[in-house]
Amino acid sequence: MNELAGKHIVLGLTGGVACYKSAELCRSLIKAGATVQVVMTESAEQFITKTTMQSLSGRPVYTSQWDDRVANNMAHIELSRQAHAVLIAPCSADFAAKLIHGRADDLLSLMCLARPRDAVPLLIAPAMNREMWAHPATQRNMAQLEADGAVVLGVGQGEQACGETGDGRMLEPDSITEAVVGHFQPKLMGGQSVLITAGPTFEALDPVRGLTNRSSGKMGFALARAARDAGARVTLVSGPVALATPDGVDRVDVDSAQQMFEAVTSRLETATVFIACAAVADWRAEQVSEEKVKKQVGKAPPTMQFVENPDILATVAKNPRAQSGDLFCVGFAAESHDLMTNAKAKRERKGVPLLIGNIGPSTFGRDDNTLLLVDAKGTREIGPDSKLALSRLLIQDIAQRLKPPAKP
Ligand code: C5P
Repeated sequence: MNELAGKHIVLGLTGGVACYKSAELCRSLIKAGATVQVVMTESAEQFITKTTMQSLSGRPVYTSQWDDRVANNMAHIELSRQAHAVLIAPCSADFAAKLIHGRADDLLSLMCLARPRDAVPLLIAPAMNREMWAHPATQRNMAQLEADGAVVLGVGQGEQACGETGDGRMLEPDSITEAVVGHFQPKLMGGQSVLITAGPTFEALDPVRGLTNRSSGKMGFALARAARDAGARVTLVSGPVALATPDGVDRVDVDSAQQMFEAVTSRLETATVFIACAAVADWRAEQVSEEKVKKQVGKAPPTMQFVENPDILATVAKNPRAQSGDLFCVGFAAESHDLMTNAKAKRERKGVPLLIGNIGPSTFGRDDNTLLLVDAKGTREIGPDSKLALSRLLIQDIAQRLKPPAKP
């Protein structure tokens, strides 16, 4: 997806072994459509060469405020005025300490200080040893950077180059690009609290078998990312799927419809939007066998009794807050045919203001989809497009239907 098309990013590298990831980050930003101008500190040059970064960005790299390639010899002004954002990745503990004091004794810090703050956001991807990260001085500096208007993207957790394990790794390049993309999204859902169900449910029949639905969870996860990027607080209640949780999204894992029902209903009080995207099993076994049901040669297959699962969406839609419009409910319908008729009927049956129809078999497991939006006034089709692009459109559409969030 070309989500950074037209964006010019100044990518600043400071001294840290995570510079090796900045090469990949540069590619990832360019793949997303951005143009990238690399600026490096002297320490960064100890870890990666200008040649590598120039080859990947397709632009000469700047390292010095005395660089006479800039006509007016003011690289710090020229470079920052052309940028849509300055991204420091990796940002060392030392560089963060420097930024909070407004020190400007090299090109990158000078440029951060000289940038027009309202027009050119500063995004920081810290990288350092776990003890350095945990040190009160670093934590204080990060808080101060945020107070000064910078966006601190956080750090990853795991094995570090020094051999220790803990917090402080630089986020992976794709996560950083995702955060940059998210930063540029309009904050249409600021102050909203969005609860989303995603994926299938799994209804055990015995300890090894179960009843489930064909759902990869991709649509619900894309919605969570789009809602987060639009500024909402997001809780994602997910059935068993093999997908990474979008950064900053609160995820609750469940297996069965009953667990999903409980996870949703216990979190309704603070939610202002509920999107039921999960493919919930309609029935579960009346009796779950404690032992594996064995195939018996020469005998007929076992018969099973099923009972109906609670309808999560229909229950939530009856909630007084949903009825008063304080909790906006959106349902999904995965159909195999007659989408328009089925989706319209389902909207009325579930009692929700908005229902999204899609043809299940043509989208299961895929990255793209076509959505039919059905409300009381009529229908509107969006797509075909990627699930993320559709999610952004859907979140925009939902945002327009919401009451403004209550002031805290
Ligand atoms: O009735 P059907 O399963 O086709 O309805 C689909 C919509 O209802 C989806 O939004 C789905 O997440 C929701 N649903 C639910 N609980 C169920 C069954 C469906 O929330 N038990």
